[in-house]
Amino acid sequence: MKKLLVLYYSRSGNTEKMAKAVAEGAQADGVQVDVNYHVDSQDLVAYDAIAVGAPTYHHDMPVDFKNLFEEAAAKGLNLKGKVAAVFGSYGWSGEAPKLLTEILKNQFGMQVIEPTLIAKYAPDANALTSCKDLGKKVSETLMNTP
Ligand SMILES: Cc1cc2nc3c(=O)[nH]c(=O)nc-3n(C[C@H](O)[C@H](O)[C@H](O)COP(=O)(O)O)c2cc1C
Repeated sequence: MKKLLVLYYSRSGNTEKMAKAVAEGAQADGVQVDVNYHVDSQDLVAYDAIAVGAPTYHHDMPVDFKNLFEEAAAKGLNLKGKVAAVFGSYGWSGEAPKLLTEILKNQFGMQVIEPTLIAKYAPDANALTSCKDLGKKVSETLMNTP
């Protein structure tokens, strides 16, 4: 059984809706999908794939994620080659998914599915469909990764 973590932060619920749609789309035989808004850095190692949902606040990613990935790096946790995806709601500039994508790729060597998925404020039906598609792609990539 492969394990996917859908990890998200959301203050006003928009990225949470996206996260739930990603998780829904990722449901597949042979894939366990966990949805959470907080994990310890050590927990990341147990997953084969991580989809991170991050809204942009003050031109930045949520501080929880900054701390999480800084701690993972400080501990030297090996996330290399794990499948990843990044998504998030934004209002006008939307830096968070881009910053996270750079970190997951460059610092941890994860296999990030691009482009990242962003939705302006509350995701509409089209955006939720794109989230489900992204989840499906993560599961498919996971199944095709030895
Ligand atoms: C205090 C505050 C600061 C924000 N700063 C930004 C920003 O720098 N860039 C941006 O694109 N959106 C910004 N936003 C808009 C949020 O990203 C947007 O409302 C998003 O839908 C929030 O997602 P969430 O409901 O998952 O928390 C800001 C919103 C608030 C309330």
